Formats: sequence, C-alpha cells, structure tokens
Amino acid sequence: MSFDLIIRNASLADGRTGIDIAVHAGRIAAIEPAIGAEAGQVIDAAGRLVAPPFVDSHFHLDATLSLGLPRLNRSGTLLEGIALWGELKPLLTAEAVFERAMKYCDLAIAQGLLAIRSHVDICDDHLVAVDALLEVKRQVAPYLHLELVAFPQDGYYRSPGAVRNLSRALDKGVEVVGGIPHFERSMGDGSASVRALCELAAERGLRVDLHCDETDDPLSRHIETLADETHRLGLGGRVTGSHLTSMHSMDNYYVSKLLPLMAEAGVAAIANPLINIVLQGRHDTYPKRRGMTRVAEMRAAGIDVAFGQDCCMDPWYSLGSADMLDVAHMALHVGQLTSRDAMRDCFASITTTAARILGLEDYGTEVGCQADLVVLQATDPIEAIRLRAARLYVVSRGRVVAESEPRRSRLSVPGRPDVVDASSYAPLDHGG
Ligand code: FE2
Repeated sequence: MSFDLIIRNASLADGRTGIDIAVHAGRIAAIEPAIGAEAGQVIDAAGRLVAPPFVDSHFHLDATLSLGLPRLNRSGTLLEGIALWGELKPLLTAEAVFERAMKYCDLAIAQGLLAIRSHVDICDDHLVAVDALLEVKRQVAPYLHLELVAFPQDGYYRSPGAVRNLSRALDKGVEVVGGIPHFERSMGDGSASVRALCELAAERGLRVDLHCDETDDPLSRHIETLADETHRLGLGGRVTGSHLTSMHSMDNYYVSKLLPLMAEAGVAAIANPLINIVLQGRHDTYPKRRGMTRVAEMRAAGIDVAFGQDCCMDPWYSLGSADMLDVAHMALHVGQLTSRDAMRDCFASITTTAARILGLEDYGTEVGCQADLVVLQATDPIEAIRLRAARLYVVSRGRVVAESEPRRSRLSVPGRPDVVDASSYAPLDHGG
C-alpha cells in the first residue's frame, strides 16, 4: 500500500519512541514502528517529538494585531484595555478585522497552532467583528479549526443591546455562549447573567465559556454560580470558566469547598498566564500578587485546565506571537509547575486537554484521527517547552502547511564545536 505521507522515527508525547506515522486521505492510517510501505512524501523525524497540533482555547481574534489603535494602554490594566477597545470599536471595519485576523492565522499555522477558540465581541449593534470572523472561519476551515464565542465584552446586562445581540450572533453561526459576570454593574447582575447564559446554552445545545472572575477581588465568586448552574442544567463537560484569577486571592477554606463543586459539575478552567501575569496585581504595592488561577490545585481536584494565549498585540497585551509553547512556559513558571509530571501536564494544557475542553473530535496521535501533526525540534514535551522548540514541519489534514529550519548557531570559538544546538542539551534521563 502507498500512503500520502509517512513521518518516520517519531517520539510521541506519551513516551513512545521509534514510531512511524502513516497518513492517508487526511487521516492517520497507521501508527507503529517501522511501517514497510511507500509514501508520496517521507519526513524523517530523527527521534524528535511529533505531537498533535497546539490548541489555543482562549483568544480574541477581533482585537488581535491592533496594537497602537487608536493609542496604547498607559496603565496596563484590564479596565483601561476594555476602555481602549471601546474607543477602537466604532472605528473598526469588517475588512480591517478580517485582514488582521487572517494575518494572525498565517502566524498560527506557522507555529503549529491549528485550533483556536476565539471570543468575538457582540456589543456592537452592527456585529461587524462577528461577520468578519465568520468569514475568516470559512476561509481557514480547510486547514485551521476556528470556533467563535459570543462575548459581551461590555456586559450582558450592562451593555445596552447585548442580550439581543448575543442571540443574533448565535443565529448567525457563532457556536459558544460567552459572558463576563464580574464586569456587570453588581454581583447580583453578574450571577443573573451566569444563570441566563447557561440557560441560553442549554436551550440551544451549545457550550459555555465565560470570562469569569478576572479580577483580584477574592469575593468575586461567579465561578460558584457557574458550577451550580452547570450542575442544575446538566451541562457538565460543556462549560468552561476562563481566567478565574480571583481564585488566586481567595481564602483557602473557601477554595477547598469550591474545587470539589467544580469537579462535580464538570466545569473546566482556562488560565491565560501571559495576560494575567501582566494585568493582575496592578493595584498592589508589594508583595504583588501573581494573579494566575490555581492550576495545580484544580488539576489535583480532577478539573481539566487548559492554557490560552488570550491576546496578541492588542489593547491588553503588546507582545505575543501565536506561540503556545510560550504560553505553557509562562504558566509553568508562574504556577511553579516544575515536577516532571506537572511540566508534561503543561504541554497537555496546550494540546490534548485543550482539545477535550473544546470537544474536538478526531484529535490526537491515534489511528483514525485527523492527520494534524507538528514535528518539533525537541525530543519530548518538557524539552519542547524549555526551548519553545522550532516547528520543523506542520501538517494539517495530511498536508505539510508550514516548514522551518532547525535552530542552530554557528560558533567561532577556537577549540570549541562549530555549531551549537540547544535541542542537543536534553537531560540524560528522560524518565521520572
Ligand atoms: Fe479573554
């Protein structure tokens, strides 16, 4: 039999080594050692890690690459970011949003990022960004999974028209229900918005992903209501709380009650470490709180935790490069997630765990899965994070869509080697 593509001598994220991956008609047709067959294209992975693609479970594609429009965020706070976005919104054109988002998607595929959940602000009555991103979704569909969350940035109740606009966006094809309870006028309105949004999702058979408690206020407890509503409406496995930064500052006793409720309800969590390490703690002097949610504790409670990039060169964050390994690297440091298992879990939080939260079907490195794969210049997930490893080949639906040269430097030091390659500095023992 002849395959379209065979990647030979791969190491997999689960520890298997010396594996060949054969692809036929956009699917993984075989995955085993030494496949004796021909293929239209053969890639020698040379023992490097071949992983399923990166998944960004939390992003804002409508704001991306708008840095500097109409001005920069001077205070660096979430609230000034929201105000700045409010200044930019009336100036947005569908063409400009479309172009910037497409440009970002080019960068994403080059970085091996082939699935993105993007929130899209629905508070503009013309739904300019919604229409633009739905068009982006259609354009990139052959090679990148893009799903959209109807996000009332200025508040579901606080922003006039948001209740109606959110349903209009869902009618147009936006597929996830969003919200921002901590930005409503009162705790009561915030709780009411969580209830209404969960009921809306239940009626329509949709998933929920709320910006939830993105504040340093330990009394912001909308995650409790989200878990309660998920339990009441039987939405387990379809609901996510994004950010959850107030949990960083909560009383430990309260958290000891909260986490089992989240686990029981089947609510997942998404931390956005790049963004929250710069946005949170801005009202503190010293010590300054880190602000990232409690990743290790949630994992230990059996709660799925993914990491999102959230922003790239927009009103909230001046940096970013669609590099999910950068996101995992930051989460690992901020959360002190340094055991071997915890570091491997960080890789899962930008691949398999994120895919599970999004409900991606046919994702992974098993026979029958969609042939979406990334060959990394690293031997295992920990090395991939350490090095923010180069994506040597990115394969989407069985086709190579991006290639990069391996990263190496030429040395000119007498008595030393001519070339230095950071990926050859792997630990001597990969176990434990
Ligand atoms: Fe966000």
